[in-house]
Amino acid sequence: MTDPSINNSSRSMKILFACSELTPWIKTGGLADVCGSLPQALSQRGIDLSIVLPGYHTVLKNIPPPEFVSLVELPLGTITLCRSTLHDTEVLLINHETFSNRPGNPYMSDSDRPWPDNEFRFALFSQAICAIAQNQASLDWQPDLVHCHDWQTGLVPALLSLDATRPATIFTIHNLAYQGNVSLKAYNQLGLPDELLIQNGLEFWGQASFIKGGIAYADKITTVSPSYAKEITSKAFGCGMEGMLQHRNEQLSGILNGIDTDTWNPATDQHIDTNYNVDSLSQKSANKAHLQKHLKLRRDPDALLFGVISRLAVQKGIDLIVDAFSELQDQNIQLAVLGSGDSELQKKLQDLALANPDKIAVEIGFNEALSHKIEAGADVFLMPSRYEPCGLNQMYSHRYGTLPLVTQVGGLADTVIDARADKSMANGFVIDSANTLSLQRGIMRAIDQFKDQSTWITLQKNAMQVNYSWTESAAQYNHLYKQTVQMHTNI
Ligand code: ADP
Ligand code: GLC
Repeated sequence: MTDPSINNSSRSMKILFACSELTPWIKTGGLADVCGSLPQALSQRGIDLSIVLPGYHTVLKNIPPPEFVSLVELPLGTITLCRSTLHDTEVLLINHETFSNRPGNPYMSDSDRPWPDNEFRFALFSQAICAIAQNQASLDWQPDLVHCHDWQTGLVPALLSLDATRPATIFTIHNLAYQGNVSLKAYNQLGLPDELLIQNGLEFWGQASFIKGGIAYADKITTVSPSYAKEITSKAFGCGMEGMLQHRNEQLSGILNGIDTDTWNPATDQHIDTNYNVDSLSQKSANKAHLQKHLKLRRDPDALLFGVISRLAVQKGIDLIVDAFSELQDQNIQLAVLGSGDSELQKKLQDLALANPDKIAVEIGFNEALSHKIEAGADVFLMPSRYEPCGLNQMYSHRYGTLPLVTQVGGLADTVIDARADKSMANGFVIDSANTLSLQRGIMRAIDQFKDQSTWITLQKNAMQVNYSWTESAAQYNHLYKQTVQMHTNI
């Protein structure tokens, strides 16, 4: 449905939205949630938008059979282009055996190793996106702009730059640490163009970098929060790309992610024990009791219950949580962790839970329902990330009146206001740095604050009233799309 309040001039803008994950079809993290909800908000602005996604096994197994469109011959092989629909938006599926024959995670095997042919898979995906972008896929449709997300689509702006009739391009960085770097030998074996392998192009410290394709060649670069957009031009956060990002700084901006406020709504959430809203906040405690029971934690309303839902990765500061909780055992605190990823971090967490079974519960795996129960049941949500491009869980937590405790980086710094600030705005706890001592101090502050229930409730209410809908961010993307198309047309 088109939002009637929105200006009609964008009605004819055609956007191809290229991504490698899409909630609810295939998800490893926040990228999927963003790609599953931003297009809806853009379509509501009257934009003619199609999503393009690999036809993974998991996707094809769970959706009605998609409609065949065409066979497309690409330099790396032949793909079958099909179309399906998600929330009234067209989804173009790139079908190839290297996608459809791999169940589970889109990038890794069951033994948590990246598929050895990932460079082939995502170079092929990128060639397919370029064919659609150039109206060479029998769709009779050419976008004005291709919006690419993360390294899996990084080659698209690079490959399109070789063609004078190309549409405009935007590349969004969701996480600069995942770069899709391959050896020069592998690059050459893929038969990709030599002329892109230059210092101001794909070449990256003796390798070829897919993400650098997006950074070097896209007409505009965005990232998912204003603070991360600034941070990544520095050595500390630039992951080796800071030079190129400084060089392209004028084309770089940060647009804060929104969230799907229907899926993450405590008033209607089907996964949680008792629904509540800002006016019936006292009902939240039933979800805490339910979570304690569900995870076999001690049933204690006075214990401050900390929640974590996370990829188990160094980025997320999981090691700091283990260290901090190991030393705070004399406090009346509990910890509920849901996560999957790094096996060493997993083991540390499990050992901690084994040693403190009524205070610490750890669930390993990907569990959508439990993630909602933790958001509703926890008092505090922990995210002591070393860096965080945006982060979605702190915003989900706000919606559920669960106060986030975060480091002052990226999107966390842009969304969480510390309890020491003006009480009419404060909505969480911000710690200065990602180390165990800072985290322990932050936890102690949360414990103290919890004793002052009336202020605690004020902070919860502030949190629940923040507007995280996509409306504002979609308007910013819409503006950037128009500006980029115009800039491209004038070249
Ligand atoms: P990132 O994309 O870096 O992992 P985000 O905070 O942007 O971090 O998004 C993570 C998303 O993945 C959230 O929707 C979160 O709830 C979800 N998530 C992460 N781990 C799990 C898990 N083990 N089970 C269910 N959902 C998870
Ligand atoms: C990435 C980032 C995360 C961000 C998400 C969606 O995975 O790590 O901070 O929220 O992408 O943009």
